[in-house]
Amino acid sequence: MTTTQKPKATKPKSSAKAPQAKALIIKVESADIVGIDTPALVVNLFRGVKKPGGATGAVDKVLGGVITQLIKDGEIKGGAGEMTLIHTLGKIKPNRVLVAGLGPQDKFDVQVVRRVSAEVVRFLRRKGISNAATIAHGAGIGGLDPHESGQAIAEGAHLGLYKFGVYLTKDTEATTEFEKLTVVELDKARAKEIGAGIKLGCTTALSSIIARNMVNEPANHMTPTRMAEIAKQVATEQGFKIQVFDNAEMKKMGMGAFMGVAQGTDEPAKLIVLRYDGDPANPENNLGLIGKGITFDTGGISLKPPGGMEAMKGDMAGGASVIAAMQIIGQVKPKINVMAVIAATENMPGASAQRPGDVVRAMNGKTIEVINTDAEGRLVLADALCYAREQGITRLVDVATLTGAMVTTLGKACTGVMGNDDKLIQQTIEAGKKTGEKFWELPMFDEYKDLIKSDVADMKNSGGRQAGSISAALLLAEFVDGAAWVHLDIAGTSTSDRVSGYLVKGATGVPVRTLAQLAVDLAKEGAPKKAKSKAKAK
Ligand code: BES
Ligand code: MN
Ligand code: ZN
Repeated sequence: MTTTQKPKATKPKSSAKAPQAKALIIKVESADIVGIDTPALVVNLFRGVKKPGGATGAVDKVLGGVITQLIKDGEIKGGAGEMTLIHTLGKIKPNRVLVAGLGPQDKFDVQVVRRVSAEVVRFLRRKGISNAATIAHGAGIGGLDPHESGQAIAEGAHLGLYKFGVYLTKDTEATTEFEKLTVVELDKARAKEIGAGIKLGCTTALSSIIARNMVNEPANHMTPTRMAEIAKQVATEQGFKIQVFDNAEMKKMGMGAFMGVAQGTDEPAKLIVLRYDGDPANPENNLGLIGKGITFDTGGISLKPPGGMEAMKGDMAGGASVIAAMQIIGQVKPKINVMAVIAATENMPGASAQRPGDVVRAMNGKTIEVINTDAEGRLVLADALCYAREQGITRLVDVATLTGAMVTTLGKACTGVMGNDDKLIQQTIEAGKKTGEKFWELPMFDEYKDLIKSDVADMKNSGGRQAGSISAALLLAEFVDGAAWVHLDIAGTSTSDRVSGYLVKGATGVPVRTLAQLAVDLAKEGAPKKAKSKAKAK
């Protein structure tokens, strides 16, 4: 049944909307830093600076040169991640001063602010300090504009404090929550800009956290049905149109590739479609965000080995990212029409599961030989891409934890980008530079096409061991029908195996902020001329 804005009867049991015990508050205050009444005042220092200037210099001065002395003694070097806590013993209003190292000045950028901001709040939380004031990192000597700095501080703090604790009946670390961060800036106009940046940063970070929660949530909770419920919450909050198609409807639409995967599980599959009409007068000014939503990937009949299989609860990260990006887009309101399509199902080896050798027919009529049932992502995406094309979308970005080969190729530092449109590829990479989410392009040479040639169908779903990420993308390319298209393989980047900067262990929320940034950037540029000619343009 097609659902349109139905009031939700189910009460969500899982976390996906309630990220933290107490939501962090971040605000800006126009005041003189040394006069601020706070348990801790955060200042900073570039590496190798002998005599601090700016705000740090001012604090040093009123504290009788203690920071300069610590530098002299070699205790403060200003290295990235360095934290030095100084008790002020009543000399100034703040009870403590925390000097955060920024690393070398020539490597300083907005990403350093996100990272430092995350490390600072985590450090304070460990110390049992629940509120603090900070200068706007980088807005002085660092050369960032105040808006950028405010946004990065908010993003870093929210994302860095993130914990997925819904199933822990007692908090093992027994820490106090960090509750409030005040960014202090004397100049009223600059303070206002910082405030606007903070507001945007809270929006982007809290939306990324929606994706993190969905990805961290175990598969017995985060089912396709639950994904659809969260999408409905986003749609209701943001005033989007939403449709959720069930198995019967998808079969009727001819989604044989998607349904082949879905037939192995008893869990109902969902095709979730969200629509934001940011430029209703210009339907050609559009962007389709297509997400892989495999809520658990056992591999199907081509069953995965048990070691590490639990990580496959995160195989819906593409779908989660797309839903979360829509939450940002709904608030930022770029002048562009954005449609999100999420193909959600489990990949299970049930009694009626598809078999290796099966041939399925996608919505556009093309046939695929299923060599390996574990190459299921490309199958569900094939139909999702067809659906978006049928709905008139001419610019497509799909997001998927598509291949293990991606983790081998690029590791966890950057997302692999492939596609058929150089301009859209570059725009995606550029959007990533703004958000600090890294992307790297892989080639799609025609020579690779042989890898997915089949004797019995138009193509096969596995190209074997060579160039695994590229052959997967080449299959997707068969379903974009001339549209400009970018494929993001987030198999490596959707999760982190350790705490690092604003990332914590588990889901990262990549590439939520970049997807929203791309929508904003494309909106500024206006409608593309023609989908067909653009697809070939180089
Ligand atoms: N979801 C996996 C890819 C994956 C692996 C994501 C590791 C994150 C971490 C995907 O569905 C898959 O199983 N791909 C196969 C394809 C192969 C059978 C052609 C793979 O990469 O091994
Ligand atoms: Mn798989
Ligand atoms: Zn998968």
